[in-house]
Amino acid sequence: MSNPLKLGLAGCGSVSQRGVLPNLVQEDTKQWAVLTAVMDPIPGRAKATAEKFGVPLWFEDYDQMLAADIDAVTIASPIGVHYEQAMKAIAVGKHVHLNKTMTTTKAEADEVIEAARKMGVVVVASPGNCRTAPFKRIQEIISSGEIGRLYWAETGTAGGGHEFETFRAGDDVLSNVNPAWYYRRPGGGPMYDMCVYALHNITGILGPARRVTGFSGIGLKERSFKGEVIPVEMDDNTHLVLDFGDDVYCLVYGSNSFSGPARAFASCFFSGSSGAILYDRTGLQVWGRDIPDGHREEHPVGAMPFVTGPHLELPERHVYSDIMHMVDCVLNGKEPVVSAEHARHVIEIIELGYKAAETGQTQTLTTTFEMHFW
Ligand SMILES: NC(=O)c1ccc[n+]([C@@H]2O[C@H](COP(=O)([O-])OP(=O)(O)OC[C@H]3O[C@@H](n4cnc5c(N)ncnc54)[C@H](O)[C@@H]3O)[C@@H](O)[C@H]2O)c1
Repeated sequence: MSNPLKLGLAGCGSVSQRGVLPNLVQEDTKQWAVLTAVMDPIPGRAKATAEKFGVPLWFEDYDQMLAADIDAVTIASPIGVHYEQAMKAIAVGKHVHLNKTMTTTKAEADEVIEAARKMGVVVVASPGNCRTAPFKRIQEIISSGEIGRLYWAETGTAGGGHEFETFRAGDDVLSNVNPAWYYRRPGGGPMYDMCVYALHNITGILGPARRVTGFSGIGLKERSFKGEVIPVEMDDNTHLVLDFGDDVYCLVYGSNSFSGPARAFASCFFSGSSGAILYDRTGLQVWGRDIPDGHREEHPVGAMPFVTGPHLELPERHVYSDIMHMVDCVLNGKEPVVSAEHARHVIEIIELGYKAAETGQTQTLTTTFEMHFW
């Protein structure tokens, strides 16, 4: 193993161009990790990426990148290929960071976790945002009994549609990145892509869910990107109810509809017998019968690990934090906090949520995970 770690990046699309690459090439990062190779199958994209960001090696074939002198990969390819790429990397002893979601089924997640254990490699599975101060504080408030006995919660994501990302508007090989996979199987749909954040947040606070039921379907049957029609094959309008046990429930939505500011991205609301909490990206609102004036605002602070200096201003710094967490675990022999087990639980919720919608039968969840805040 090299120190600093030699990293390979698979997938040079939106998240990589806007966030991962600008973060990884900062000077402070080089004491821990050096981006050594980039890979993308679209002709010219990896080469152009390597030239733009000063990366020594570029590939259009994933297996060739794995054969290069790298210690770890960060996977930023379409979600449907994450499982295969993680398994291949683990098989040749590379440590792995995966963008969300790690896989699309629990069975695949089981295989990734088991293979990594056997090979003794680190797997970190984004997103790790739910380990930050606001979520820790929500858990403290609920546990303290300040809002009484918890009854229900609501969370989700509405919005998006990656064809509208301004990043994709250009016509050069680096920015003309077709988002059609976001509407295909496997791996498309707002549950794997966006609602995954909300599900990590809510399970991070309340612990593993016990059961799931819901409805799911497709809103617009067709979308378009630069004049090309994209048939929507994957559900893009999913509404679930989670049972956390002890008669505590959570409504969850994952939709490619418009919400405007009415529902902030992955915001969450908790309703107790004598109070309530709302989290959006601006902070916490807490209401309660026993709170002076009935209401207060809180703004818990605490950056994610490695997000300091120039990274505080760069896009997708939470992904950078997760990648560097993988690096930290490898270099310093730590157990991942942003764990594959938590990712597996969320993946099982999504998979069984779809199954519940299809069959009309409530599904029982089997997976669990340990939660640690930063
Ligand atoms: N777009 C975002 O805002 C965002 C933010 C955070 C995380 N993510 C996650 O990052 C990952 C990539 O999303 P994106 O929006 O950047 O996608 P994208 O469509 O913009 O880019 C994907 C890139 O992967 C390439 N690719 C296709 N098949 C590949 C393969 N087999 N191996 C390697 N590369 C391949 C494509 O050519 C393209 O350049 C997903 O897991 C997504 O959930 C996206």
